[in-house]
Amino acid sequence: MNSTQQPIGIFDSGIGGTSIWKEIHRLLPNENTIYLSDSKNAPYGQKSTQEIIDLSIKNTEFLIDKGVKIIVVACNTATTNAIQQLRAKYDIPFIGIEPAIKPASLKTKTGTVGILATKGTLNSTLFEKTTSNLSDEITIIEQVGEGLVELIENGKMYSDEMTSLLKKYINPMLEKKCDYIVLGCTHYPYLLPQIQEITGNSIEIIDSGEAVARQVKNILLQQNLLNNSSNQSLNTFFINKDKSVLEAILKDYKNSKIDYLDF
Ligand code: DGL
Repeated sequence: MNSTQQPIGIFDSGIGGTSIWKEIHRLLPNENTIYLSDSKNAPYGQKSTQEIIDLSIKNTEFLIDKGVKIIVVACNTATTNAIQQLRAKYDIPFIGIEPAIKPASLKTKTGTVGILATKGTLNSTLFEKTTSNLSDEITIIEQVGEGLVELIENGKMYSDEMTSLLKKYINPMLEKKCDYIVLGCTHYPYLLPQIQEITGNSIEIIDSGEAVARQVKNILLQQNLLNNSSNQSLNTFFINKDKSVLEAILKDYKNSKIDYLDF
């Protein structure tokens, strides 16, 4: 296999990063991909920085062994806590994902932006650096989405528990007049319809998925790694827990193959 046909490697603490995979696949349908869902260790958001770094290294080495040409860290928590270490340790290009707090802060009219993310992301030095560069006139309402990743990973995306957690997290943002809510975890785009039920149409809800896909394309182009073949792409997903939740999320993608992995 020549290097342009090597797959794009993608990892997340679980199935949430498939929201990024879908954006990448939509923009670059001919690219082969390998996705690693480390669901057994989810959520990363409650772990120490060192644990997140160690798991990110383990995931990276798995993908490098599979011969990937680039790695997408499809996890805000792993990006904000570990991408610097990954870049220092490996030569392969890494693309990460960070909460879209900057675009939201440039567009807000009320001056108040809400962010829903994991504890690990909100407490990270990288996130702190991003927020400290924002204008003093912007107020950021930070909310840890505790429990949301676990419910999604356990197939309880649509449940009473989910509805009440989302109301508990989103309603205070509305009371504080947020007009933008940033979804700072790759699992949360799957909750968009339920969040919109709570916010109505007046609030913009944004995430970074599309921007990450565009960035992947740019880097592949720059490095002459873009796959121009017209063959149908191969998309392989590895998961180290029950694969039924992942199967449900990928049911419309007939050219995807899901394997259980003892990892
Ligand atoms: N999808 C991960 C993220 O973007 C979830 C983190 C977790 O496992 O807590 O942050």
